[in-house]
Amino acid sequence: MIIKCMFPAAGLGTRFLPATKALPKEMLPIVDTPLIQYAVSEAETAGMLEIAIVTGKNKKAIEDHFDVNLEVEQNIAGSSKEKLLAPLRRLMKRCRFSYTRQAEAKGLGHAILVGETLVGNQPFGVILADDLCISNESGVMSQMVEIYNKYKCSVVAIEEVPPQDVDKYGVISGEEIDPGVFRIDNMVEKPDVGTAPSNYAIIGRYILTPDIFEIIRNLEPGKNGEIQITDALLEQAKQGNVVGYIFKGRRFDCGSISGFMEANNYFFAERK
Ligand code: G1P
Repeated sequence: MIIKCMFPAAGLGTRFLPATKALPKEMLPIVDTPLIQYAVSEAETAGMLEIAIVTGKNKKAIEDHFDVNLEVEQNIAGSSKEKLLAPLRRLMKRCRFSYTRQAEAKGLGHAILVGETLVGNQPFGVILADDLCISNESGVMSQMVEIYNKYKCSVVAIEEVPPQDVDKYGVISGEEIDPGVFRIDNMVEKPDVGTAPSNYAIIGRYILTPDIFEIIRNLEPGKNGEIQITDALLEQAKQGNVVGYIFKGRRFDCGSISGFMEANNYFFAERK
């Protein structure tokens, strides 16, 4: 059973300035619900009830979001607005939240290593909240748990992207061993267009085995001088211990203005 899920949330979100000057980018709402709440809800659906959030400077609003606000509670008590808080209250009841801080922005691999203290020596999920995923089935992380249970190694969610976009992602190559499942033999962080090993991009969902921490500790900085999770996973892949999974569903890149607007339009239309 995988019971822990990590949420790296220390990034500055500079693409959304000025909105993110004082507000964590994970708190940007899709309609009325912050990105981080969708992400935690996906983990909860997958049975990962221990929520490990790696925060940074200016991220206090995330902790407050998953805590009781007595003034709000008193204000809406007995009113029709109570139902607006019901999904969040449910998450707060079901999940346990813990936090640690990444003091320096040294890359996603580094953030995950900072989160080791919250996760310990067991396989765990990782969700990047700005990749908002929907699916008709049980949720992308639940799908990945099934893949993990079958292969018992690290799993990354992948999606085919246009060739001109590969430089925004970690990109994999490998052999298809089951429909939509690849045994990964190579992965490159943000390759230049024209040099990528395939068009299969990693999106922000991972299940990692805990040996990843020792690998990250020994890693040199990679692309953009940052400690990259893609480089750490490549070490596991060389041992045949990473599979890529083409998830069933749709992803909105809420780290970009256009993806964020698309997600808002989609969820608003659904709501109506
Ligand atoms: C990170 C990872 C990258 C992955 C992407 C998915 O990049 O480093 O491999 O493809 O998330 O969203 P970032 O978007 O944080 O630059």
